[in-house]
Amino acid sequence: MKKILITGGAGFIGSHVVRLFVRKYPTYEIVNLDKLTYAGNLENLRDVEKLPNYRFLKADITDGDTMLQLFEKEKFNGVIHLAAESHVDRSILNPMDFVITNVIGTVNLLNAFKAHGDMTDGLFYHISTDEVYGTLGDSGFFTEETSYQPNSPYSASKASSDHFVRAWHETFKLPVVISNCSNNYGSHQFPEKLIPLFIHNIKNYKPLPVYGKGENVRDWLWVEDHARAIDVIFHNGKKGDTYNIGGHNEWKNIDLIRVLCKQMDEKLGREPGSSEKLITYVTDRSGHDFRYAIDSSKLQRELGWKPSLQFEEGLSKTIDWYLANSEWLEHVTSGAYQNYYEQQYAAR
Ligand code: NAD
Ligand code: DAU
Repeated sequence: MKKILITGGAGFIGSHVVRLFVRKYPTYEIVNLDKLTYAGNLENLRDVEKLPNYRFLKADITDGDTMLQLFEKEKFNGVIHLAAESHVDRSILNPMDFVITNVIGTVNLLNAFKAHGDMTDGLFYHISTDEVYGTLGDSGFFTEETSYQPNSPYSASKASSDHFVRAWHETFKLPVVISNCSNNYGSHQFPEKLIPLFIHNIKNYKPLPVYGKGENVRDWLWVEDHARAIDVIFHNGKKGDTYNIGGHNEWKNIDLIRVLCKQMDEKLGREPGSSEKLITYVTDRSGHDFRYAIDSSKLQRELGWKPSLQFEEGLSKTIDWYLANSEWLEHVTSGAYQNYYEQQYAAR
């Protein structure tokens, strides 16, 4: 039997990974470790929480002693590490939170796995982002060979954590693998990120704050396709390697927002064009990367993965989920989130 620790399993991507692993691998013991920050929500996992191969543990990866004790007790075979501070705008407001969680938290886990993990047949799988590569102009793609050039405090913290993972492989022979993925979308994403935020705002007739001219480009991937890629890389990835994951699905922000507005008008039975009237151009994000585009041919060629869903279909499913789960949305947008929203958008 395999005992696998998934960190950050109560977050957006983590909850999809936990769900996939718990259901697909009934003989694995899955331990979900999460601090339950504003972004972690056990409501995301109601459908699997009673399954016998699943366990939740509330803990903080920045507490090195606790991580060492936990790994000594549990003797994990594998770690899939997703816990992180993940929102670029928050990293501009509070960079140190990102250094502590993303860098120190990751090193604590590396040390704990080195001391007590399965160093022979086990694996430490670090989930990272394409933002470590910096920004592209109008053409070209990020490959696994692209040099790191992070521009935001978030991407600098993720780049740093990637380097620590690599260093623990080279220096201490830790069995590791890293993947760098593009923008995810889908159910259970905290509504600070573009797509769920704009769905929430349209629903409530609130302005849609488009940064700059809305010309920045992102490469969108359905979160369940990311979870499938993580499954494939965890089981068949080459130790010491890095894999890029992306959707081959580039959208200028403003074009994506227009499609979103159109679908929302249809689904809410509103007059065509009414949601677009909420678009409000605001001061650009500082250090805003212009374009991300991922070349995921290595993953497709070596491990046979490819995205499964067309974007318009995925977006439609995503909107349906948020509209059907308005209680979930109301729960996560109360309290502390309101303060963040004020601080982030009031003076723009
Ligand atoms: P998220 O913010 O939705 O979830 C992060 C989770 O980590 C939350 O459940 C939170 O409670 C937990 N966490 C935070 N600090 C912790 C700590 N100190 N100890 C334990 N748990 C802690 O993030 P997400 O969008 O699901 O991203 C997950 C991972 O994937 C991150 O590492 C992120 O960098 C990476 N990633 C995200 C995207 C994306 O588009 N969202 C794309 C590529 C890579
Ligand atoms: O590329 C992978 C990364 O994608 C992940 O590593 C991050 O964790 C994830 O948050 C995401 O980062 P982005 O900054 O690209 O995502 P976000 O949803 O914040 O923004 C998407 C684009 O939309 C970006 O160009 C900024 C713009 N934007 C965002 C918000 C929140 C707006 O124009 N207005 C907004 O209010």
